[in-house]
This record gives sequence, structure tokens and C-alpha cells, in this order.
Amino acid sequence: MSMVGAAALGAKAEAMIAELAAISAEPDRLVRLFLTSEHRRAADLVSRWMTEAGLEVREDALGTVRGSFGAGPKLLIGSHIDTVVDAGRYDGPLGVIAGILAAREVIRSGRTLPFGIEVLAFGDEEGSRFPDTMTSSRACAGAFDPAALQGRDADGVTLSEALSAYGKAPDDIASAAYGAGDALAYIEVHIEQGPVLEQLGRPLGIVTGIVGQTRLRATVSGEAGHAGTVPMRLRRDPFIGAAAMGLALERIALDNSDDGMVATIGRIGAMPGAVNVIPGRVTFTVDLRSASDAARLAALKRFRSEAEAIAAQRGLQTDFEMVYEAPATPCDAHLQDRLAAAASTIAGEPPRLPSGAGHDAQIMAKLCPSAMLFVRCKGGISHNPAEYASLADMGAAMSALIRLIEELDPASLQ
Ligand code: HGY
Ligand code: MN
Ligand code: MN
Repeated sequence: MSMVGAAALGAKAEAMIAELAAISAEPDRLVRLFLTSEHRRAADLVSRWMTEAGLEVREDALGTVRGSFGAGPKLLIGSHIDTVVDAGRYDGPLGVIAGILAAREVIRSGRTLPFGIEVLAFGDEEGSRFPDTMTSSRACAGAFDPAALQGRDADGVTLSEALSAYGKAPDDIASAAYGAGDALAYIEVHIEQGPVLEQLGRPLGIVTGIVGQTRLRATVSGEAGHAGTVPMRLRRDPFIGAAAMGLALERIALDNSDDGMVATIGRIGAMPGAVNVIPGRVTFTVDLRSASDAARLAALKRFRSEAEAIAAQRGLQTDFEMVYEAPATPCDAHLQDRLAAAASTIAGEPPRLPSGAGHDAQIMAKLCPSAMLFVRCKGGISHNPAEYASLADMGAAMSALIRLIEELDPASLQ
């Protein structure tokens, strides 16, 4: 069992999370995007932590920092170090730091495991910079889509150019993939980002599955004009059309609430963007999720049909580009049970719950059995600087992870 108690692990994790949170592109809010100088600084800090923990560190062709020890097929433990804009500090880093501290404890114990361990710090889980997302875990899982290399950020920089500027060679991406049999399983510790564990009064939860997700980029085109001289009835205003489409999207999600369907328009742009000009073109993003892939795909079909009808009625043109899609992904049942057994020794039988948030675990599930341990977060708040997980709950999660590592029988995963 770990030489260091849960409280000390929680305090250490909190200090590391604070140190990492200080690495941001902006002074007043947390912004750390894929392949930026902030990513580089964060990766260097994580590399140092991994080295200090006794891990052998390398970096793959997508910039994922990998810290490993031991022989044989590897138990992968990871999460991401990129953030959304104006982020909380626990979403992602908690999973990387939990892996590092758990590995440190196992190394210190001198225990020989029947498998290796590799801690992974992914650089692109949020998809905050480029249209595609989860490209770093896709590369590890051998599921990287080369088309993503042409995706452009807000400054027109392609992923390929950004990788080269970061010192990586896009041609090396295939080498980042684990070979058959290299990966025993994947475990991700992550804040719940929802209110269920807090409502149940439980510190830890076992994730049963991760919702399916589609991200679209919509463009609605009309006719730019003078805000003062064009009568309302003669306008072809794409923003008003987009607003009607947003209401249609809300209706569709509400009609599918049984599947937990949610839909969000998170990024909106109006061109030319002057206060006294009727926009000529409006863009907006759609993030649509559901536990049911069938319901999600039907909802997308209905949305596009209703959006095109709205456009036709208003003399507008629409274009929808699907920029990301991931199927609903169940977590490995056996690994869920192993995680639950380990967590039970720390904080009683943990509840089982689905994840409405996407995670690298749903990509790593293409490679090997994958499971997630959720940690209670205050008010269920996330993607928000008020995000918080207590030292005690983080310590409990790491103690459970250490227990899982010590008790895992690789034969049971075959
Ligand atoms: O969007 C998500 O669900 C995750 O936080 N990237
Ligand atoms: Mn996350
Ligand atoms: Mn997130």
C-alpha cells in the first residue's frame, strides 16, 4: 500500500495543480492551447515531475509527454494538459498528476509489477485551438486522421505548421501509435464536471460510458447592408436566421432529453462585425451529444433539415461542416469492476455514472480496455475558473489508483 497517505497525496496534487495553472497565455484567465509556448512550458514542467517521480520520459510526435517504468505491456494512465478558454485548473491536469504520483508511490514501494506503467500527458483534448480534437490520444491509439493536419486555428495556422513550429514532424505521427499488445489498459482520473457525486455525497464514481459527440461548424450567408436604411422586410439577415436555427436546435435537444441529449452553440461570429452593418455572413459552432448514437444522428439530420428550411424562407444560404465526431463509448466492464473494488477500500462502494463530457478515454478505448475514475467537484462546475476538487477527494482518488495498480491481474484483462 502507498507509503504516503491520501491527505499528503491530495496536498501534493493541489500544489502541482497550482504550479501548472500558473502557465497560461493570459494573466487574468487560464488559457493553455495545443502546441503553443504555454503547452511547451507545461510539457517541460510535467517532464520534470515525471523524472523526479522516477519515470523515464519521452515525447511523441504530437507532443504527448510519456513517463514510463517497468517491463511488459503497459498500464496507461493519463489525461490532458490543454485547457478551454477561461478554464478551471483541475480538468485534465488532475488525471496526469494522479498518474505521476501513483507511479511515484509504486516505484518507491519497490514492488515489482507484472506489467509496465506509462503516464500520458495529452496536449489536445479540448480542441480549443484547431477544429478537430483529441488528436494526441488518437495518435497513441493509431486512429489519427491525417485530414486533421490541414485544420486551421483562428490565425489561419494549420495543425501541420503548428506541429513543425513545435519541433515535431507530421511524418512521424504514425510512430506515436502503440503496437498490438503494448497497452494493457487505459485509466483516466478526472473531475466529474457534473453535480451527481456531490448530490450523492460521494467522493469517487466509476464511469459506465462516455456520450457520443458531434461538432459542426455552420456558416449562414445573407446580404450585408446599412443598418439604418434597409427596411426590415427587405433584409436577408444571417444572424436572425442563425438565431432561429439555434432555437430549433434547442427544441430538438429538449425533444430528446430522455437520452440525455444536449446541444450547445458555443462560438459565434458575425462578419463584417460592425455595429451599423447588417452582417453578410454568420458562423457558429454546434456541439451535440447523446448517450444514444442513433438519437444523435437522427437529431443532426432533423436539425440540418430545419435549418435549411429556415434559410430558404429567409433567402439565406447555409453550409454545415462536421469537424469532429466520436461515438458513445462504454467503459470496459471488467476494468470498471477492478476500479470499483479498489475505490471501495478507500471510500466505500462508488456509484456508477455516465460521462456527459468527452474524454481521451473514449479514444483510448479503440486501443485497449479503458475506464475512468470520477472525482467529485464542487457544484459540478467545470470549464470555469470556479472549478474545484478537494484535497481529500483527490487523495482518495490517488489512493484508489495505487490500490488498483497493486492489485491488477493482467491475465484478467486478456
Ligand atoms: O468537451 C468536452 O466534453 C471535454 O471537456 N473536452
Ligand atoms: Mn477533460
Ligand atoms: Mn474539458
